[in-house]
Amino acid sequence: MGKGIIVGALGVIFGGVIVAALVITLGYAPANADAKPSWLEKTLAKTALHAVINREAPKNPNPEAVNDKNLIEGIEIYSQNCAVCHGASNGQPSNIALGLYQRPPQLAMHGVEDDPAGHTFWKVFHGIRMTGMPSFAHTLSSEQIWKVALFLQNMKSLTPAAEAVWKRVPSQAVKNS
Ligand code: HEC
Repeated sequence: MGKGIIVGALGVIFGGVIVAALVITLGYAPANADAKPSWLEKTLAKTALHAVINREAPKNPNPEAVNDKNLIEGIEIYSQNCAVCHGASNGQPSNIALGLYQRPPQLAMHGVEDDPAGHTFWKVFHGIRMTGMPSFAHTLSSEQIWKVALFLQNMKSLTPAAEAVWKRVPSQAVKNS
């Protein structure tokens, strides 16, 4: 009796693996980006991301001081590396942003001022797997990542000099240019 249950359970698991393999190899599993991520996919991805970030993200506050120089450097790094996906101060998405599967938030509209700096640091350093969010671990220094995080934390309360630089970052939205 016990044996029968085990054999039955193994049969169901094995059958499931075969069906999944067939669905994937015959081209029935979605691999396109022109669709909306499903609820299940979003929930699984978000839960995994939050758990890793809670475990790994630096807990210290941003080591870079809030001043014109650091904010402006952060804005310049953002303009060169992030604005194409996350938008400029008008919050309008570029064609690239509109075509990504996992839409990048337009940070001037849906900001991350409330996120701990360490969380933003982790996301920019490591990137977010299976989304368009790249890892900048090999292209930006830690100091540059903290500065771009500083800008994002203070985006809604910039110094006048930094605000002027932010307003000049060109939007790459096709409709609004
Ligand atoms: C090629 C497009 C692309 C570029 C370039 C890019 N990102 Fe992202 N980013 C994304 C996408 C897509 C997501 C959403 C991932 C998700 O849904 O989990 C994201 C998510 C984020 C988040 C999390 C937002 C939230 O609401 O939790 C932050 C913060 C972020 N990016 C910052 C940056 C910074 C800073 C840069 C530049 C140094 C950058 N990104 C460059 C595509 C991009």
